[in-house]
Amino acid sequence: MSKSEQQYDVHQAQTDDRNNWFHPWEGMADAGTAVRTVITGAEGIYVYDEQNRRLIDGPGGMWCVQVGYGREDMARAIYDQALALPYMNPFALTSSPTARLAAKLAELAPGDLNHVFFTTCGSTAVDTALRLVHFYNNVKGRPNKKHLISREDAYHGSTYLCALVTGKDRDKNWFDAKSSFVHFLSSVNPSRRAQDLSLEAFCDEKVKELEQKILSLGAENVGAFIAEPIQASGGVIVPPEGYIRRCWEICKKYDVLFIADEVVTAFGRLGHFFASKDVFGIEPDMITTAKGLTSGYLPMGALLVSDRIFKEISGANANGSTFGHGYTYSGHPVASAAALKSIEIIEREKILEHVREVGPYFQKRLQELREIPLVADVRGMGLVGCVECTVGGIGEASLEFDMNLGARIDSHCHELGLMVRPIVNKCVFSPPLIINKEQIDTMLDILKESIIRTMHDIQHELGIELV
Ligand SMILES: Cc1ncc(COP(=O)(O)O)c(C=O)c1O
Repeated sequence: MSKSEQQYDVHQAQTDDRNNWFHPWEGMADAGTAVRTVITGAEGIYVYDEQNRRLIDGPGGMWCVQVGYGREDMARAIYDQALALPYMNPFALTSSPTARLAAKLAELAPGDLNHVFFTTCGSTAVDTALRLVHFYNNVKGRPNKKHLISREDAYHGSTYLCALVTGKDRDKNWFDAKSSFVHFLSSVNPSRRAQDLSLEAFCDEKVKELEQKILSLGAENVGAFIAEPIQASGGVIVPPEGYIRRCWEICKKYDVLFIADEVVTAFGRLGHFFASKDVFGIEPDMITTAKGLTSGYLPMGALLVSDRIFKEISGANANGSTFGHGYTYSGHPVASAAALKSIEIIEREKILEHVREVGPYFQKRLQELREIPLVADVRGMGLVGCVECTVGGIGEASLEFDMNLGARIDSHCHELGLMVRPIVNKCVFSPPLIINKEQIDTMLDILKESIIRTMHDIQHELGIELV
């Protein structure tokens, strides 16, 4: 393609985008006018913008491009499967890539999570899990055991039901997303705890809150507790040590199903295929996953269900029921081939071992940012991290600045060759898992310089010194 054709293409893309593409999380005031960056290509850990600028992809797409961009082996697997069998009806038939993938996921998953329900994305995996909780209790003749417990700062997706259990007000304020059967626990963000409260005492409080919520609703009325082991888009909130395991034990005590939402934490982000057991020591009743399952090459999600649950609602226990739920694209053969290839690459190239090696280095370098006065908190685990910034100390005006800090930092990063994911006053990171130490250094050097530049801009605008 000639340069002028490419230019035209970019211009046309931006025009068509403004006129016709209604984007997720569209800021409606700017809808139809915003000029978005056009991503024209990608390779390894890099994406290219319309000026052909090479940017490190800090968020790894959206926490999903595990094995990196531009992989011929991924493209070949997708091509071959599309040619051999691009589609088959999952309600009535089966196909070998999807059956193989189900068996592979059962092998990789902790405990007895041997039954895989395929979906189209993370939201539909979570939606399926929540509907299964209700179905399960209906089949078992416990029609009251339907209440769901979630937590503030949780993000579980964008179907109606997922939005009900999402605990981020900003995502819900303009929708009708309240329900009498959904309950929220307070945030488990340790940096928000009272100054004189130890981490252990904070953890005790949060675990107790779950138990009290179950008791106040009546265990006979509570169907499930849903939790991301690390709350991702809530701002990479790593709960205190032992919290997840203790919550799981409480759930077992009261016969409340534990759903681990591993849409972000699975497929290597924390150095293991699934984080539930290997990182947090639990064997949940269900795991939801998506994103890194196909390394983002094709859309796919999955719900993994334990033998115990499956057995309690099938065969002689089915009570005449049909699980009347599913999607045209459940278990899509081409997406399955992509998932199998991505898993094969992770195994063959020892990517989990690599993450376990470079993850602590990434975290160490991230922590160095604390010395910048604009930085309020830094947190993360494995190859996921977050830098939270605040102007602070200048009253009302600081709030207004804080609202845009992520976008301001992102803009400097873009100039210097890094794409970040700004969320209000935070920048979150989940780079492709193949990132090496040298690239981590470049990424964090750019981030540091961009935060310092943002701080200087603000000091200049306000005529004050931030310390
Ligand atoms: C923990 C978690 N659950 C569910 C979802 C929804 O996944 P999807 O956007 O693929 O529907 C997300 C998306 O970011 C997520 O982070």
